[in-house]
Amino acid sequence: MQIINSPSLANCSFLTMGQQVEELVQGDVPWFHIDIMDGHYVPNLCLPVKIIKELKSKYPKIIIDVHLMVTNPIDYLDALKENGCDYLSFHIDSTNFSRRVLTMIHDKGMKAGVVINPSQQINDIEPFIQFLDYVVLMTVEPGYAGQKFMTDSIYRLKELVEIREKSGNPFLISIDGGVDYANAIECAKLGAEIYVTGIYTVFNQPDGITLACKRFKNTLMDAIK
Ligand code: DX5
Ligand code: ZN
Repeated sequence: MQIINSPSLANCSFLTMGQQVEELVQGDVPWFHIDIMDGHYVPNLCLPVKIIKELKSKYPKIIIDVHLMVTNPIDYLDALKENGCDYLSFHIDSTNFSRRVLTMIHDKGMKAGVVINPSQQINDIEPFIQFLDYVVLMTVEPGYAGQKFMTDSIYRLKELVEIREKSGNPFLISIDGGVDYANAIECAKLGAEIYVTGIYTVFNQPDGITLACKRFKNTLMDAIK
């Protein structure tokens, strides 16, 4: 099983973002998690689409994982593709046509996923499960970085893993919100591959971002040995 650290760049300081991103790269992160918000789907704004192009031109090998929190995901697909998005996820309640949006994302050459909020049923993904490359399980309410992991998310992850096994489609599972060492280890043992990391593991660590990234990956790999 692979463990993918996808740090949430919403946790960067804008004044030192370039330096922090470089430290993440030195810590061998394979993905960047980019939160895009429109102020309607969630009551907040976050990163601009153009950051994707800048990241991709400096770090072409790093996968850009975009988490769309917008009321009309279709409006953003072309711009995201043009700017260099690799993996694109949208919320299942942000469109009446999840299956169509998944197909549109695939047609543009990107990997496609959906995001499940804490108030939504896990089995809502079943009608389009065969079209999923990944599923993002929100473990906080979307909209803000720095919240606490909702502990019942562990049961929801178990259900998601069961549904995945039954489906025969080995889509990746991403854990987004309040990831810390204790909950990440539990999630890794259950079978989640992608960790959207923030202030509890990667940013604001006493020995710096680079060592924190390496420690996070090594700890999870040890936990699932
Ligand atoms: C919340 C975002 C998250 C968030 C994760 O809406 O989807 O990606 O930035 O970072 P932490 O774990 O710091 O909340
Ligand atoms: Zn996110």
